[in-house]
Amino acid sequence: MRQHYIAGNWKMNKTKGEAVELARGLVAALKGGKNKYMIAPPFTALDAVSQVVRGSNIRLGAQNMSTDESGAHTGEVSALMLKDLGVQTVILGHSERRHIYKEDDAAVNKKVRLALKHGFEVILCVGELLAEREAGKAEAVCEAQTRKGLEGVAEAELKNVVIAYEPVWAIGTGKTATPEDAEAIHKFTRGIVASLYGKQAADSIIIQYGGSMKAENAAALLAQNDIDGGLIGGAALKADTFVPICSA
Ligand code: PGA
Repeated sequence: MRQHYIAGNWKMNKTKGEAVELARGLVAALKGGKNKYMIAPPFTALDAVSQVVRGSNIRLGAQNMSTDESGAHTGEVSALMLKDLGVQTVILGHSERRHIYKEDDAAVNKKVRLALKHGFEVILCVGELLAEREAGKAEAVCEAQTRKGLEGVAEAELKNVVIAYEPVWAIGTGKTATPEDAEAIHKFTRGIVASLYGKQAADSIIIQYGGSMKAENAAALLAQNDIDGGLIGGAALKADTFVPICSA
């Protein structure tokens, strides 16, 4: 039985003070919770939030990471810097990185391998655009992003990999995939993992759903066989909306 894993991606929101306040509320509210939890504040609040979540059952996540360990990469943040702040998980290949900042599969893969090398847990995001879904290409897009994202990742490292299926058309739009549509892609993606690493690895890997997940739809999504958690954006910005998902 896979544990449910609920993660909050705060995106480009929260000043340091606001982040600390939310993190404090979550530490108190999720204490003793039976699922696995993570929050990913913006880089500028990682240090402060790190002090708040230390020793709690909430993991500290980063929303991105550089392809390189150090050097002339203006504006980038490296694995070593994240480790230094106590970051345990990195979200990689988020659709906003792929589509707004033009990160391709090769860059995402380089980050995945570097993060795993440094012992981070990786949340690898995959998902199709609306036009791709309408053209019947949802599976093909998720397959390509999964295969390319995991290229060169050893079977032994897969225990530190989580996949998040995030249909781009459902992110921040209020449109959620139906539980059945999401389940179909989750099951398909688990099959891809099985073809790469075998059934046992596929049965163990956590596949989160992301895209307008909220308290009202979380239970139905999480009730699906292959949906093992959520990567939450908008609803992760307030304890009042995030905590009910965590206990759904
Ligand atoms: P959303 O974002 O919950 O606001 O749709 C999800 C995500 O982008 O991770």
